[in-house]
Amino acid sequence: MPLEIVVLAAGQGKRMHSDVPKVLHPLAGRPLLAHVLETTRALAPERIVVVHGHGGDAVKAAFPAAPVTWVEQSERLGTGHAVLQALPLASENADVLVLYGDVPLVRAETLRELVQVARGGLAILTADAPDPVGYGRIVRDARGRVARIVEQKDASSEELALREVNVGFLCAPAKRLSGWLAGVGNRNAQREYYLTDVVALAAAEGVEVAAVKAADWPEVAGVNSKRELAALERMLQRRAAERLLEAGVTLADPERIDVRGSLECGRDVAIDVNCVFEGSVRLGERVRIGPHCVLRNVSVAADSEVHAFSLLEDAQVGARCRIGPYARLRPGAMLAEEVHIGNFVEVKASRLGAGSKANHLAYIGDAQVGSRVNIGAGTITCNYDGAGKHRTVIEDDCFIGSDTTLVAPVTVAKGSYIGAGSTINKNTPAGQLTVARARQVSLPSWKPRGKK
Ligand code: UD1
Ligand code: CA
Repeated sequence: MPLEIVVLAAGQGKRMHSDVPKVLHPLAGRPLLAHVLETTRALAPERIVVVHGHGGDAVKAAFPAAPVTWVEQSERLGTGHAVLQALPLASENADVLVLYGDVPLVRAETLRELVQVARGGLAILTADAPDPVGYGRIVRDARGRVARIVEQKDASSEELALREVNVGFLCAPAKRLSGWLAGVGNRNAQREYYLTDVVALAAAEGVEVAAVKAADWPEVAGVNSKRELAALERMLQRRAAERLLEAGVTLADPERIDVRGSLECGRDVAIDVNCVFEGSVRLGERVRIGPHCVLRNVSVAADSEVHAFSLLEDAQVGARCRIGPYARLRPGAMLAEEVHIGNFVEVKASRLGAGSKANHLAYIGDAQVGSRVNIGAGTITCNYDGAGKHRTVIEDDCFIGSDTTLVAPVTVAKGSYIGAGSTINKNTPAGQLTVARARQVSLPSWKPRGKK
């Protein structure tokens, strides 16, 4: 049977107290819905339909390239009503798997199992919740068969004591599902058409309701509030930290690292406290990252060290480099081996050759810097003239004295030596000393004011 997946993402997420649609709140750096969509793709369904509603344009806009069909639920009348908006798109002979956009960490294997056990009937996913408050409870009959699901707000005190909860996912043939949904009413505490009511309807028809019980709670935890979001985030981060420790990475404190994307580490990498890794980050062997660093889409080659409070973004760092403390590498910074970038140095869209150094207080933007270049404190590439950006070229073995301004476009030829405080706006000849500043004068006849 072909498989179609319906993802419910139309809820406003009242309990988040936010103007951002719930499924767009980030978990480990990506919207909740992104986690769900990635998992659905692993099941290779015929179609993925996402039901959006409140703030729907923002939700759609956040996934411009997602291979999904969008359906609008203009009125938020409940999860059952939401599924009804999507069902007309499903082919009659398909199995439909319904997922919630606010249950982000479910694994593809669990969903596969759910689809398998449905076998033409109805399958639901359940779990024993550490704290079942807020969830629909699974009510079983005397023989242990699933009889119905009762929502928190409609449950009796006896039912509230049940710990087995509805994760929110179910699988059934499209035809049967729309039949059951047609019979779902909204006479309940929330005046909503509950998807969960199909369970009692199926059971009443004598259809066996297969329940797959998830063993791992975080996998099936829903996000309804910032508190739950934060708890899930910590759980995810703790897992990421454990994976790193197991792979041999030294973490000064596994509770104080955040990985919002992928972090690949070579052997004997050490990471100090409060570092954030975003996008795709690769650290080579023996790389050391000091405390309070942020690395976003960066690769750092073997034996390099990034010192405290550095921010590196869309950059490449070669082997045996020394970055920071307080360094900033912006997009397009490409450093060869043994480059030193020191405190309060900013590098943007520039290449620096092997062994070059800018140790203090400099801006290097849109520049091509050769090897073994020394860039003195306070050096600035004036790359922007108010209209366009221009390039600075500094060839191998140059020495740029402190407080030099390089007015681009300009080329400093191989082996140039620039005197401190120079403003260089013409190309310099190779191997010569160039000084471009007013000559120092002293006036022997000068007397301090007030003195005769
Ligand atoms: C739902 C289940 C509950 C289950 C819990 C698991 C129902 C009635 N209740 O409760 O049994 O234990 O999930 O996390 O299904 N949505 C729409 N349109 C709507 C309403 C909701 O698209 O009209 C979407 C939401 O965006 C969300 C999902 O459906 O992604 C679930 O809705 P939510 O309001 O969060 O339901 P819960 O109260 O968590
Ligand atoms: Ca929910």
